[in-house]
Amino acid sequence: MKHIRNFCIIAHIDHGKSTLADRLIQACGGVTQRDFHDQMLDSMDIERERGITIKSNTVTLAYKTADGQEYLLNLIDTPGHVDFSHEVRRSLMACEGALIVVDASQGVEAQTVANLYLALEYDLTLLPVINKIDLPAADVDRVREEIDSDLGLDPFAAIPVSAKTGVGIDKVLAGIVDHLPPPKGDPNAPLKALVFDAHFDKFRGVILQCRVMEGTLKPRDVIHFMHSDHDYKVDELGYNQFKLVPKPQLSAGEVGYIVAGVKSVQDIEIGDTITLLDNPASEPIPGYQEAKQVVFSSVYPMSTDEYPDLAKALDKLAINDAALTYEKDSSAALGFGFRCGFLGLLHLDVVQERLQREFNLGLVISAPSVQYCLTLKDESTLNVDNPSNWPDPSNIESATEPYIKATIIIPEEFVGPVMELCREHRSESQTMNYLTADRVEITSEMPLGEVLFEFYGKLKMITRGYGSFDYTPIEYRPTDVVKVDILVNKEPVDAFSYLVHRDKARTRALHYCEQLAEAIPRHQFKIPIQGAIGGSIIARATIQPYRKDVTAKLYGGDVTRKKKLLEKQKKGKAKMKQFGSVNIPQEAFVSVLRAE
Ligand code: GTP
Repeated sequence: MKHIRNFCIIAHIDHGKSTLADRLIQACGGVTQRDFHDQMLDSMDIERERGITIKSNTVTLAYKTADGQEYLLNLIDTPGHVDFSHEVRRSLMACEGALIVVDASQGVEAQTVANLYLALEYDLTLLPVINKIDLPAADVDRVREEIDSDLGLDPFAAIPVSAKTGVGIDKVLAGIVDHLPPPKGDPNAPLKALVFDAHFDKFRGVILQCRVMEGTLKPRDVIHFMHSDHDYKVDELGYNQFKLVPKPQLSAGEVGYIVAGVKSVQDIEIGDTITLLDNPASEPIPGYQEAKQVVFSSVYPMSTDEYPDLAKALDKLAINDAALTYEKDSSAALGFGFRCGFLGLLHLDVVQERLQREFNLGLVISAPSVQYCLTLKDESTLNVDNPSNWPDPSNIESATEPYIKATIIIPEEFVGPVMELCREHRSESQTMNYLTADRVEITSEMPLGEVLFEFYGKLKMITRGYGSFDYTPIEYRPTDVVKVDILVNKEPVDAFSYLVHRDKARTRALHYCEQLAEAIPRHQFKIPIQGAIGGSIIARATIQPYRKDVTAKLYGGDVTRKKKLLEKQKKGKAKMKQFGSVNIPQEAFVSVLRAE
């Protein structure tokens, strides 16, 4: 056991975590040059294209020190984005140490700090790495200062590297062995293994990634999942070395895979503890947390006959994405679809993009919402995330909504406008902390729902891209939430309804009305577009009537052009939704609902 190191790499997005991982893998000869393609650990296309890591992957590397001692290094990859912080937690639980990567030109950022706190919660030993020292803008001395002041870590322990050129990689490997502690645990104790990841393989079924904390596991053992209360028989186990390499056993301190006839990732819970059915541990590994969906949205196929395809696509995605939830939903405007639950906005984005790209589906997605918790007059409670399930307001006694603690790190010059932005988004308390002379950390308690609408975009604009943002959910707090309907020619169009704080109802309604007035073509009559809370109108825009002949404005006698235009108009009609006496083009749903 003393020749094992279990570690992960944590970093702010884009600071070079995946590139560093690739280098470490190459340096250990974990993979032949021919098999090597950049960013081995980022396996999904979308991950590679956007350069973000979503699903963790794990690899066991064989490393020989200068004096010939062999070590097994288990590199546990962690997702970089806040939406996936529960996945980060599970990965951290499987490790004794972490490399904390800081970009030499950017310095410490919000996610570096947030991830550091997480790592400290799990008592990990941290080894700072200053990456990208090859960049002309690299400032290693300044970053050392930040490692000291912002992270409270030993600045002299930090290893300067370039994951791009390979400089310093050998020192990182030596540092892992010298500074990070080996695992502890008793191979003869009752089995406790942490399931920190799982993915579905067409041929093998679900492949579980586990860290054995105590005890020993062998093929043919019957395992018991302590939280989900399921039993399976182990078919095979072993190390992840780019292919699955079977071993006769996995024991305390080791990290490896298990194949045990599990059919879908939905059947198990990541973070669960595996023990042996006939010699169980008395209690599971502490710190288990369920993945919690906090953002909800309805997803409809662009054309109603694609509904079965959408259903199949979601089933397929869910096999590998235990955090995605979905149930049937329907809309008068858009037909059948699904109400989906996501871990955050990025998760929603990723799912949407995969549905469109991998399954070739045209989609309309309703405005994302958080879940409100209502107490009704009869003292019963109701959780609502879907505007179509909103009860009659006269039955509502009180409501609460989820709050987050947001951490924003910005250059000092942007403090004023960012504070103002937070206030505009109903921030309830703001504290300011100078990390260095010109870098400020603002923490703010604000409603999660406020971050879903225009917040990211505005923050980026105000700080010219220099602001970094992270959040953790804290608690539900009282709110005054209302349902706003959008009426087109006096008829409510359900797909546009949304739940919002009363103070924000009007501005958002106006936004929708104006957007819709632009997106809906003129008709032969005047069309009012209104935002309403119950019976009272709070916003309005008008579409002026059209002249009867669409070609009237074409002067001259270009008949082909005239014909073309009429033809185009006909085609356009085919894609319209008839709403009362108004036709709303599909595109209007797509463009108006894509608010940000
Ligand atoms: P997430 O997976 O999104 O968390 O990002 P990451 O931290 O894994 O970053 P990634 O490894 O994808 O690197 C981000 C960008 O920085 C890529 O364009 C890399 O090519 C580049 N990069 C990484 N390391 C270095 C380095 O040492 N020098 C230079 N010049 N560029 C680097």
